[in-house]
Amino acid sequence: MTASRRTFAIISHPDAGKTTLTEKLLLQGGAIHLAGQVKARGQARRARSDWMKIEQQRGISVTSSVMTFERTDADGNTITFNLLDTPGHEDFSEDTYRTLTAVDSAIMVIDAAKGIEPQTRKLFEVCRLRSVPIITFVNKVDREGRACFDLLDEVADMLALDVCPMSWPVGMGGLFQGILDLKSGKVSRPEGGSKEFLGKVDENVELPEEVAEEIELAQAGYPEFDIEAYRGGDLTPVFFGSALKNFGVVELIEAIANFAPPPRPQPTEAGPVDPEHKEVTGFIFKVQANMDPMHRDRIAFMRLVSGTFKRGMKLTPSGLGKPIAVHSPILFFAQDREIADSAEPGDIIGIPNHGTLRVGDTLSEKNQIRFTGLPNFAPEILRRVALRDPTKTKQLRKALDDLSEEGVIQVFYPEIGSQWIVGVVGQLQLDVLISRLEAEYKVEAVLEASPFDTARWIKGDDKALRDFADFNKMNLAKDRDGDPVFMAKSAWDVSYQQERNPDLTFSATKER
Ligand code: G4P
Repeated sequence: MTASRRTFAIISHPDAGKTTLTEKLLLQGGAIHLAGQVKARGQARRARSDWMKIEQQRGISVTSSVMTFERTDADGNTITFNLLDTPGHEDFSEDTYRTLTAVDSAIMVIDAAKGIEPQTRKLFEVCRLRSVPIITFVNKVDREGRACFDLLDEVADMLALDVCPMSWPVGMGGLFQGILDLKSGKVSRPEGGSKEFLGKVDENVELPEEVAEEIELAQAGYPEFDIEAYRGGDLTPVFFGSALKNFGVVELIEAIANFAPPPRPQPTEAGPVDPEHKEVTGFIFKVQANMDPMHRDRIAFMRLVSGTFKRGMKLTPSGLGKPIAVHSPILFFAQDREIADSAEPGDIIGIPNHGTLRVGDTLSEKNQIRFTGLPNFAPEILRRVALRDPTKTKQLRKALDDLSEEGVIQVFYPEIGSQWIVGVVGQLQLDVLISRLEAEYKVEAVLEASPFDTARWIKGDDKALRDFADFNKMNLAKDRDGDPVFMAKSAWDVSYQQERNPDLTFSATKER
């Protein structure tokens, strides 16, 4: 069963076409029958939740969801795809990053006219941190884009990856005639006057001379596809296509089915846990509040790592120590939530709870396993929190601790001075923070400018840390776990200190 799961995410810069591609993948996979439902469904879901008004105002989704579709090949083998949605707006949160810890592979969508954009790159770095293999989809070749070689070289240079073109567009923009599969030599062509792909494959197509030359160069100039190099995160196969016109989408699904790894072992301090391990284990990578405004419930999203989960099973959360019975788990299907009776490694289940489950928690039958590797990311925006009513310090502390556990914000307690600092990786998280402080904790707070620009976790031996602290007390803080953090005024500040303190490491991520 395990081999039949593919759990993946799509990473991209806003507007590259992630939503369009998601729709087409689900359509091809038979999960939904009308294009446009992904967006419509998102809006319906948003309307359900109160504090998510912010999402509505901004017209974006802060929350990630899980979409599942199936596909049966000619031999009757069924593969279940779990597509984890990562919000694609500029304002992303740690949620987005953490979702990537729960996938086994990713599709990186690039706009053919724009190449690698800043957010593509950031998300790619997160994938690299965990050697998540990437399939690249160069989208929008039905429009005028950059030269294919240019795009391939940019991926190779900027991301330090080997690239292997798997298909090649025959012309782009107005001259676009179809997509050549480099392995089979077949061309998928738009039919008649419309550019819509109707599934006709033409084997005897006469390629324009310059295209034939390009293809010859491409085949000679790039390494052959090597599945081990891909799975190790060293090589990316590149597909060209158009999500809008439905070109190259089937090929992408096939690539995920044939190349992408099935559920992988997950790291613990005592070594990796294999999906074949009999005991049910999993980890929480995301907690979402108020999905249903009628209840104060939260949904914890658990990635199942091993074992076959059955409804009603008793699992022990590492943070709690005593077992809970999971009576009404939720499987997220494309159209509806359904009650799950059983789930396999690679599947995601939603567990309703009242705040007992935290991001980073391990759930297991025997409570002997602890998964590691859920990273915190250096915040890019830091703010001081000031209370309107100073008697509410205790409530504020509790709220900040809770919300940082949930991954909404990070909190830093400076060594000197009493004003706590919150850090986020996207502006939107600050709005979420303020509205949840008011709605859930009845705390009115304002955010003020902070003298700091970014933060780095520092590591080193005790003496090096002490020496550093002697000189930099003003810039030191502790995170919620009590680990030391250097609060920096600028990126320059970080590299300056790194140079002066070669015995210390200044890290932009911290693993829980
Ligand atoms: P995102 O989720 O990555 O932010 O991107 P989304 O799919 O919303 O696509 C962004 C815009 O790019 C949309 O146009 C979409 O129609 C267009 N697009 C996506 N794939 C292709 C493609 O293969 N070819 C071409 N030519 N365009 C594509 P929009 O006008 O901003 O939105 P809409 O009004 O069409 O929804």
